[in-house]
Amino acid sequence: MSCILMVVLALFLLIFGAFPSSSWASIDSGSILSTVIVNNNNNSNGDQPDFAVDLNATNFDAVLRDTPSTHAIVQFSAHWSPACRNYKPHYEKVARLFNGPEAVHPGIILMTRVDCALKINKELCDRFSVVHYPMLLWGPSSKFVAGDWKPRQDKSEINAIDDRRTADRLLNWINKQMGSSFGLADADGFDEGLELENGSTVSSG
Ligand SMILES: *[C@@H]1O[C@H](CO)[C@@H](O)[C@H](O)[C@H]1NC(C)=O
Ligand SMILES: *[C@@H]1O[C@H](CO)[C@@H](O)[C@H](O)[C@H]1NC(C)=O
Ligand SMILES: *[C@@H]1O[C@H](CO)[C@@H](O)[C@H](O)[C@H]1NC(C)=O
Repeated sequence: MSCILMVVLALFLLIFGAFPSSSWASIDSGSILSTVIVNNNNNSNGDQPDFAVDLNATNFDAVLRDTPSTHAIVQFSAHWSPACRNYKPHYEKVARLFNGPEAVHPGIILMTRVDCALKINKELCDRFSVVHYPMLLWGPSSKFVAGDWKPRQDKSEINAIDDRRTADRLLNWINKQMGSSFGLADADGFDEGLELENGSTVSSG
């Protein structure tokens, strides 16, 4: 009996000795997320910085696994698509509420984008049945990790966002899911008034 115990203990020590990695891995991929965000906010083409986090097949799982945000939106797009270019300001308007160092509602929803026109992302986009752009999926962040999605899949916790055409509609859709009352004006600070839980608005004057 005690012999078995010793063996179990030895195995235990061996496993933990060999892989002191649980903390390691999280530090490591935590830094993936911050690297992705820094790269993102520092794009060389002189555009406005993006609030939505660009993901690719290499970092998709790691970032969604390690984000503190419980929920995520993944926008599947194609950089050449006029529809995606037109949609970008709407998506960004919502993303700036939730993403980035100055987010007014940080750590709740991670808003991301995957460019399906890049070869590296083809398999990833196939996994989520992307057939048109832009396509938005919503779900618990962890469900995207090694996850997939198919239309008309009943039990999936990942859902397509159908009503997303403007920033307002997208945020409304989110509010319905979360039972929240986030407003686009939240990000403009007190000048535009602060939306309260009970729906009234105060101005800080
Ligand atoms: C994927 O994104 C990361 C972070 O932005 C970047 O460093 C990497 O080069 C990208 N991979 C490819 C193959 O584009
Ligand atoms: C942005 O890029 C420039 C030049 O590559 C670099 O000097 C600067 O430190 C970067 N900023 C951030 C926030 O990473
Ligand atoms: C809404 O909440 C604020 C602060 O909690 C309170 O001052 C205000 O009276 C409330 N308004 C209504 C209509 O309940």
